[in-house]
Amino acid sequence: MATWEAVLQVLSGSSPPFNGVFSVDSALKSIRHTSLVCHKGPSTLRRSKNGLRVFALEGTKGVFRSKIGVKRLESAICECHGARNISGISAEEEEYRTHRPKSVPLNGAISSRVEEIDSESNANLAAAAGTVEDRLQSVRESVIEDEAWNLLRDSIVYYCNNPIGTIAANDPNSTSVLNYDQVFIRDFIPSAIAFLLKGEYDIVKNFILHTLQLQSWEKTMDCHSPGQGLMPASFKVRTVPLDGDDFATEDVLDPDFGEAAIGRVAPVDSGLWWIILLRAYGKCSGDLSVQERVDVQTGIKMILKLCLADGFDMFPTLLVTDGSCMIDRRMGIHGHPLEIQALFYSALLCAREMLTPEDASADLIQALNNRLVALSFHIREYYWIDMRKLNEIYRYNTEEYSYEAVNKFNIYPDQIPSWLVEFMPSKGGYLIGNLQPAHMDFRFFSLGNIWSIVSSLATLDQSHAILDLIEAKWTELVAEMPLKICYPALEGQEWRIITGSDPKNTAWSYHNGGSWPTLLWQLTVACIKMNRPEIALNAVKVAEKRIARDKWPEYYDTKQARFVGKQARLFQTWSIAGYLVSKLLLANPSATKILVNEEDSELVNAFSCMISANPRRKRRAWKKQSFIV
Ligand code: GLC
Repeated sequence: MATWEAVLQVLSGSSPPFNGVFSVDSALKSIRHTSLVCHKGPSTLRRSKNGLRVFALEGTKGVFRSKIGVKRLESAICECHGARNISGISAEEEEYRTHRPKSVPLNGAISSRVEEIDSESNANLAAAAGTVEDRLQSVRESVIEDEAWNLLRDSIVYYCNNPIGTIAANDPNSTSVLNYDQVFIRDFIPSAIAFLLKGEYDIVKNFILHTLQLQSWEKTMDCHSPGQGLMPASFKVRTVPLDGDDFATEDVLDPDFGEAAIGRVAPVDSGLWWIILLRAYGKCSGDLSVQERVDVQTGIKMILKLCLADGFDMFPTLLVTDGSCMIDRRMGIHGHPLEIQALFYSALLCAREMLTPEDASADLIQALNNRLVALSFHIREYYWIDMRKLNEIYRYNTEEYSYEAVNKFNIYPDQIPSWLVEFMPSKGGYLIGNLQPAHMDFRFFSLGNIWSIVSSLATLDQSHAILDLIEAKWTELVAEMPLKICYPALEGQEWRIITGSDPKNTAWSYHNGGSWPTLLWQLTVACIKMNRPEIALNAVKVAEKRIARDKWPEYYDTKQARFVGKQARLFQTWSIAGYLVSKLLLANPSATKILVNEEDSELVNAFSCMISANPRRKRRAWKKQSFIV
């Protein structure tokens, strides 16, 4: 048998460092064991003249951990078992988990209890059975949560020994990794929130500061440089040999601004999420020194300048190309998609809160405030539909030329799709997906609607109405796994034209009406903000029935979300983190304040002033904050 040398240098304060020569099995087992218990030590795999050697070297942890993570998943249960014991799960819980009762079977426990309380009332009996069932349920839940935490920690990527993010997916069976081994900015947000809520702030701080360095990176695509201030879609930590040293390596960060991404899409949402996360970090950790740093203030301003730059656009909404957000391939969402507008609004509010007076010029603040007012007016008024508004569109006059036009965007009533007549509940409403001249995209996009609630882009009434709609259309939007990314799917000729016959985006799959468990966390924030947590609780219960059993898929297919997605990755980090964030927030609802933007009274005032100062705009008597279309 070949001799293997394993030198393990465990930097964790809790685990004693050890060195030694091991067999292949024992070396790998030791490392795996270490990787489950200690989440700090740096290590790497290198090939030398004697064969494969396992080394632990500073600065290379990310690469090594991914490989070990894969090994661990392949050999699953017994190692997880060991790890959980280390993390303190009780023997009783372990017994429930493995479904191998060692002593009295659970049913036996119930029946002996039944005998004992024979003389008691039926109500007591039901209560007793209920208690056992409740206990079982909470054990099941905590087992799922434990697994999720282990998986989340296994997805951590290290840069120069420091945790810096989480990889998109850790699927051991995936034949082509594509870019799922990278840290995506948008994917890391739920991971970051989970770590913040656990009091683990370092990884989030490192992420914020290192991605900031990437913002000013040299970026070009075919000799063209995208705008200054753009944040990458994703980045990778590469471990490269150090010149002149056989064994030493160094880590480099390798960002992708869309120039290598499928379809070369621009990650417009990255910078907006970055600002939202920066505020959440400050609010949660209490460490405001990060947002006050000069380089961070400059980073915020660069993103704002890019977003607030003048263009040819007539609308206050942000004009973007297709695939510039979570839906990062062609799906007919170019123009002014709701998701981008909600994130934009949220980021503007967060930035305004964080900009220090000495760093923010009066002009920038003015531009920011003007945009906030115009944007909220535009979305609340023109994107909103409910039964009443739909009926109004149905009876629209067209071809109106004047400042007083009611049908400003020249929408032809025939555009109202037949599915919408069925879909629109009598109580409830939502913000449409997109608005362009003579075009309303009536599809329901979950993230845009949910984040409009979270950011207060939607009015209070609208926010409640969106949640009413989610409740009324539970079978369509939640079904067997929360939450549909959009509803309904594009089919037939429409699918051919709009997606370009994209085989990954076939009807009710992936971005085209697929169901994405990660959306659970944003839904939870919105429900808690509106004081309706029971909606999120119900959605979490639906997810809990299968998400862990199905190995944490990226997305689900079919109208009812019955199948794991055709090309879905398993062990998708943001599915795991999204679930954890939902659980953490439901257990501690006040923590949602780190993400929520409350309705700003100054903004509402400015809004009213703007309306009364502009003779071309007249207020209509429809509730408090509604205006002529
Ligand atoms: C897919 C998703 C995108 C996500 C990426 C990594 O491309 O569409 O939103 O960021 O996978 O998980």
